[in-house]
Amino acid sequence: MTIPSRTSLNGTHVVVLGGSSGIGLATALAAKTMGAHITIVGRTLEKLRRAAAEIGGAETVVADMANRKSIEAVFAGISRVDHLVITAGGVHAGKLADSDPDKLLAEVNEHIAGSLYAVKAALTRMPPTGSIVLMGGQFSDRPSGNGTSVMALACRGIEALARSLALEFKPIRVNVISPGFVETPLYNVFGKEGRTSLLTHAANTLPVGRIGRPDEIADAVLFLLTNGYMNCEVLHIDGGGRFV
Ligand SMILES: NC(=O)c1ccc[n+]([C@@H]2O[C@H](COP(=O)([O-])OP(=O)(O)OC[C@H]3O[C@@H](n4cnc5c(N)ncnc54)[C@H](OP(=O)(O)O)[C@@H]3O)[C@@H](O)[C@H]2O)c1
Repeated sequence: MTIPSRTSLNGTHVVVLGGSSGIGLATALAAKTMGAHITIVGRTLEKLRRAAAEIGGAETVVADMANRKSIEAVFAGISRVDHLVITAGGVHAGKLADSDPDKLLAEVNEHIAGSLYAVKAALTRMPPTGSIVLMGGQFSDRPSGNGTSVMALACRGIEALARSLALEFKPIRVNVISPGFVETPLYNVFGKEGRTSLLTHAANTLPVGRIGRPDEIADAVLFLLTNGYMNCEVLHIDGGGRFV
């Protein structure tokens, strides 16, 4: 049997947790363009509805990565998942000296535990040709000392998790996308000035001289979904940000 090196998304069902905004929305849009049926998941119904309209048609489900039952309920209503993409999550900054460790750990869990809930629930609905993309990030490789330790922990944990899951659930492929700074609503939590200052500084520091766009990250996610030999990989797309 010859296995195609590039699989088509045409007719597949792609579920994007976090698909109502930023990288997840761009991924859902790109997958839709390639002929996939799309389900997007997030906590806010209004955002999901707006995103579904932008995508040009998508199922929408409200759920919270921090709540196991709500994530399990997402998949209870779905019979087949060809590809699972998890981009749901926020930005969690805080120096350990100034923060409650339990709060920091809860934020790690939004990524780690939420991904475990979703992967476990999705796997029983995935064909052998299925694949999963989890979300890491540049802080895994590029510590800052500026209150990003929790994000570093979550990102590195996701990388370790993905590799092990790929072996446990073979032949389903599991990969990680590790973005650097990307222009999305994620940074709105820092306020208008804080966001501008952070992203301007990052753009000036990066070798490429600018922040990434969500569609550039989506392009990398789609490569991981459709290249049948990509497995156990952490694909960095950060404008060279790990090295400056
Ligand atoms: N942008 C960057 O520079 C960057 C860099 C490295 C890594 N990342 C990671 O990439 C992922 C996507 O980031 P983004 O920039 O695309 O952010 P974004 O534009 O803020 O989108 C986040 C998406 O996740 C959903 N979400 C957030 N928390 C959730 C939760 N607890 N349960 C379910 N859904 C949740 C949001 O919808 P609701 O708010 O309605 O739930 C939204 O759809 C995040 O995990 C982020 O940490 C981003």
